[in-house]
Amino acid sequence: MLGGKNILLGISGGIAAYKTTFLVRLLIKAGAQVKVVMTQSASSFVSPLTLSTLSKNPVLMDFVNEEDGSLSWNNHVELGLWADLMLIAPATANTLSKMANGTCDNLLLATYLSAKCPVYVAPAMDLDMYKHPSTKASLEKVESFGNRIVPAESGELASGLHGEGRMAEPENIVHYIESDLAKGLPLTGKRVLITAGPTHEAIDPVRFLGNKSTGTMGFELAKHAANLGAKVVLVSGPTHLNVDHAFIDLVRVTSAQEMYEACHKSYADVDVAICAAAVADYRPATVAKEKIKKQEGKMSIKLERTPDILKSLGEVKKDQFLVGFALETENELENAKDKLKRKNLNGIVLNSLKDDGAGFGGSTNKITFIDKNLEIKTFDLKTKSEVASDIWEEIISRIHA
Ligand code: C5P
Repeated sequence: MLGGKNILLGISGGIAAYKTTFLVRLLIKAGAQVKVVMTQSASSFVSPLTLSTLSKNPVLMDFVNEEDGSLSWNNHVELGLWADLMLIAPATANTLSKMANGTCDNLLLATYLSAKCPVYVAPAMDLDMYKHPSTKASLEKVESFGNRIVPAESGELASGLHGEGRMAEPENIVHYIESDLAKGLPLTGKRVLITAGPTHEAIDPVRFLGNKSTGTMGFELAKHAANLGAKVVLVSGPTHLNVDHAFIDLVRVTSAQEMYEACHKSYADVDVAICAAAVADYRPATVAKEKIKKQEGKMSIKLERTPDILKSLGEVKKDQFLVGFALETENELENAKDKLKRKNLNGIVLNSLKDDGAGFGGSTNKITFIDKNLEIKTFDLKTKSEVASDIWEEIISRIHA
């Protein structure tokens, strides 16, 4: 949600300012670019050097910089235009009062007045200051201007007292912003289940049957869904991929049986399920307890079927929009349509192994989307990220129809 966003962090002078180091790290980790503007008094609580190191940008405090005898102007208008969103954390009673009244006696306030982007404000102060009618009035006025207030939390305060007024924890601030940005997105309020990657079926304690799936397609589908506002459960077989998104719950599994169980645990609560995993169709009928020793001559391993997860989800389907993948080598369309019916799907994504660059293992894919009315749409060869976007467009147009 915050990936690629330009975030201006305004820090005013309260003890909670020390927590902004964690805040900057979380924002950077979420993929945002961060610039810090702080008041002079904030610099008594947290070092500008720490913040500039973490944000990888100079920290600005004054309208004018003096360096090697020459003066330069910190342009608050440009800063305001640069920002996709501004976060003022901590916002002290003093800064809130000035924001409410349009006072503009420092760079932070001038930048705030210049910013056209959404502004989030995380108040922080002692409980009696927080309760004071003038603070309440400031907060109400600041909110009435269209700014979003990240509610202060209750707990132990720097004064030693307990009560409301503590700045929301950095994780909660980031979560609040992400949830707020998600409002109005096409998948907001929707729950999504996605399977990804291969499965490994144990032969003995050190060997397994597997395949070349990297999990890229499923991870891209999960990231796109989360960026479109959905809460996602991503059930992934063994892969080197990772994802760090507040809206993605990554459940790592190894075997088809574990994937089956993880999927059925979430399925009843989801609106959309997409099975993009390359699940092994067979597993060894018995798993040797000890490492199998080599012997003269041939050896064979007796295999049994794994559960067909997608089919089992189709069998218990209620209102879920269920999508499967089909990787075909011949009679592609007919086989895919047959699979769509047999597994009781709402849509199927066909990739033909005849198309160069399609299928698993690579970074591109070429797909055809078929829905349950047998409406067919074929796409060009694209990156898996672009393919994920196309697939979601197809699904969204149908679940909102
Ligand atoms: O029948 P086939 O294996 O070709 O179907 C592929 C689709 O079924 C994919 O969406 C895949 O994720 C899913 N599948 C599954 N469980 C299996 C085998 C395939 O969910 N055991």
